[in-house]
Amino acid sequence: MCGIVGYIGKKKTTKVLLDGLKELEYRGYDSAGVALLDCENIEVYKALGKLENLKEKTKNILENDYNLGIGHTRWATHGKPTELNAHPHLGEYSYVVHNGIIENYKELKDDLIKKGHKFISQTDTEVIVHLFENINNKINDTTQAFKDTISQLEGAFSILLITKANPDKIYFFKHGSPLIVAKGNEEKEVLFASSDAPLIGLAKKVVYLEDKVGGVASAENIEFFTDEFSWSTLPESKQFAQKNGFRFFMEKEIYEQSDVVSDCMLGRIQDNTVTFDEIEPSIIEGINEIKICACGTSYHAGMTSSYFFERLSKIKCHVEIASEFRYKEPLLSKDTLFIVISQSGETADTLEALKMAKKAGLKTLVICNVDNSSMTRLADFTILTRAGIEKGVASTKAFSTQTIVLWLLSLYFAKIRNSISSEKMQKELLALREVPKALIISDKIHEKTKRLSKRYLHGHGFFFIGRDVFYPLALEGALKLKEISYLHAEGYPAGEMKHGPIALADPELFTIALMPKNLLYDKVKSNVEELSARDSTICSISPLDFELSDDFIKINETEHYMLEFFEMLVVLQLLSMEISIRLGNDVDMPRNLAKSVTVE
Ligand code: F6R
Repeated sequence: MCGIVGYIGKKKTTKVLLDGLKELEYRGYDSAGVALLDCENIEVYKALGKLENLKEKTKNILENDYNLGIGHTRWATHGKPTELNAHPHLGEYSYVVHNGIIENYKELKDDLIKKGHKFISQTDTEVIVHLFENINNKINDTTQAFKDTISQLEGAFSILLITKANPDKIYFFKHGSPLIVAKGNEEKEVLFASSDAPLIGLAKKVVYLEDKVGGVASAENIEFFTDEFSWSTLPESKQFAQKNGFRFFMEKEIYEQSDVVSDCMLGRIQDNTVTFDEIEPSIIEGINEIKICACGTSYHAGMTSSYFFERLSKIKCHVEIASEFRYKEPLLSKDTLFIVISQSGETADTLEALKMAKKAGLKTLVICNVDNSSMTRLADFTILTRAGIEKGVASTKAFSTQTIVLWLLSLYFAKIRNSISSEKMQKELLALREVPKALIISDKIHEKTKRLSKRYLHGHGFFFIGRDVFYPLALEGALKLKEISYLHAEGYPAGEMKHGPIALADPELFTIALMPKNLLYDKVKSNVEELSARDSTICSISPLDFELSDDFIKINETEHYMLEFFEMLVVLQLLSMEISIRLGNDVDMPRNLAKSVTVE
């Protein structure tokens, strides 16, 4: 994830761009940069690290006048976080900022090098500006050159491009990553940004660009290359805008999952295999066991992944709650890869577990959403989940991205250890690619959870039950309900109910049964029948009708259990949120909790 901004107008361009980038800094802070165009002169400023460093570098030009400018805050994908790799990237006379990944950049770059272009960075982005100039040098038509450039790019790319060859214009295109075009509140003013927040107060009329829509903007006019766009009105309140019209951050974050999961996979599935720039295959050399430590929701992602590591990578895997691990005097051996999972990277118990593993000389890996957090600084290796800032205290998109990273990692290990057939690998990758679709929320499903929330306000308790990976999912569903609705809920392995908890069964006991078609359906069905026979109220979530259900939430029929997993995840998150809303609770800031638990 990166953030991009652009401005044409009479305000002080540098300040508008820096203020915009501040709002987007959560999207990445490896480096930041701006390119400012004044008549035919372009000035560029770049700085490594947080935006503060760029502010320091540009403090003497804040009052200067420019025709227009573009800016970028970077979260590194291709090429290390260095000043050279920071955006904007330049050719001979043009500059570009980009959010996304150009998948075919290597071929394009090789070709352009043969044609005499000189590259100075290791990024995929630089290829855009060279390709543009290569075409423009031949046809001398900047708009056509921009269109031709876009047509040759593959991957995800939201782009702003400026050029001395047409110094009054910003060329823009959106594909895969977000981009908004806005008419400024003042006359002859145009703005661009990756999200609403930088535009609030500066503009009211915006176009949320759809994929494959682009155009060219000048102070006088915004010309789109297609008719597929429509103007919307931007909300005036920043708080509302940050929630993008959703009632709560949690709701926004539930809906964001489809996008952030795509971001999370970007560049990590290539040529029908899994790659991670952050780790080397040697990470698994000499390793016979994986130990995972985490807390809360992150622990549930870890539990889910233990099925992947054993099933796909054929490596023994143990998962422990960090606060338990710390004091059990654990036996640690050096053939263990120690993985910690944390949204914040600051959770005290998980951090201490990581310190213990480091002290014992184990190889350590953190799966985290916050770069430069205590855990990413300490672990030998880091894989970032790219979920963007999670504001709701109840974790949602952090869990889905953690699960994706862990699933990918299990396939990465499976490839290195040769423990998976190529057919099986392709089947898994196919399913992974389908996850963003499975996470798109239909109005029907959301409405259904709203309706059911009324009925499930009462009762003396909830059991969420499932088998295999649906057991940690059941735990996660129960945790979501507990923490925001304050109702008692337990997650349980479906097959274990008969060993005690079934004694609680009566109509006031609500059972939320996770019944995937693709994994152990008949087994779970028998377990639910046992509960139904004892009058428990059953709400089943499944693609298949189940006649004994009192309530039924139908998910789509798919060919892989993990697609069912993600569809059910959304249902569970929405159901707990709707129950919490009906109870009048503060969904985003539930009582007694904090987003980052830095105490024991
Ligand atoms: C639940 C939740 C918590 C966190 C836990 C660990 O919705 O958010 O259970 O998962 O406090 O936090 P991180 O992942 O930041 O280590």
